[in-house]
Amino acid sequence: MRFDILTLFPDIIKAYINKSIIKRALDNHLITINIINIRDFTLLKNGQVDDAPYGGGSGMVLMCEPVVRAIESVKTPESLTFLLTPQGRTFNDEMASNLIEKTKHLILVCGHYEGFDERILSFVDGEISIGDYVLTGGELPALVIMDTISRFIPGVIKDESFQNDSFKNNLLDYPEYTHPRVFRGLEVPEVLLSGNHAKIKEYRYKEQLRVTKEKRPDLLK
Ligand SMILES: C[S@@+](CC[C@H](N)C(=O)[O-])C[C@H]1O[C@@H](n2cnc3c(N)ncnc32)[C@H](O)[C@@H]1O
Repeated sequence: MRFDILTLFPDIIKAYINKSIIKRALDNHLITINIINIRDFTLLKNGQVDDAPYGGGSGMVLMCEPVVRAIESVKTPESLTFLLTPQGRTFNDEMASNLIEKTKHLILVCGHYEGFDERILSFVDGEISIGDYVLTGGELPALVIMDTISRFIPGVIKDESFQNDSFKNNLLDYPEYTHPRVFRGLEVPEVLLSGNHAKIKEYRYKEQLRVTKEKRPDLLK
């Protein structure tokens, strides 16, 4: 999977992708992340990418020219392009797995300030939000989407941990424990120490049902 992340703040993206699981996925060529600086695509001499809104109002609006030129610099007939906006469809696990089936090339465009000139919508496949709140920029949403989708790619994480992750089969993950066996009087459930794999599997499934019923009963519907 290739991600092109279009941003005015490449360093935010670079800082995140240079660590841990995503870095390993990059090193192992399981994913590719291309960071594009929208400012490189302005035709204005002073590097300007935004301007005051027509009709007045506070804040600055990202201009069509640099954003659309940046998109066109990486777009292919196979790619899907999304603006990150609070007004888009809300991202979730299901959308992540649908996207991975539809394309091997995702272009994610990060807004800033007051957001995008509305006409940019005519040059993309849609808008994605990561929740009903407003952030200062699209970099965190782009990273959230890239990270979630990357976990779906075989080899990025262990297959077995992926299978039990929360939201697979509409269930939450089962509770996990590690050393010590007793912490301030709180014990690890006996069955996990039994070595009986069939029993452990059954116990964990029951725990998934219990936890989901308790924390997210809506998933069981
Ligand atoms: C301050 S926001 C602009 C909000 C816009 N004026 C509105 O109210 O719909 C600046 C940028 O942050 C990003 N952003 C903020 N919240 C987001 C969210 N919940 N999901 C995705 N992107 C978001 C978008 O790229 C947006 O263009």
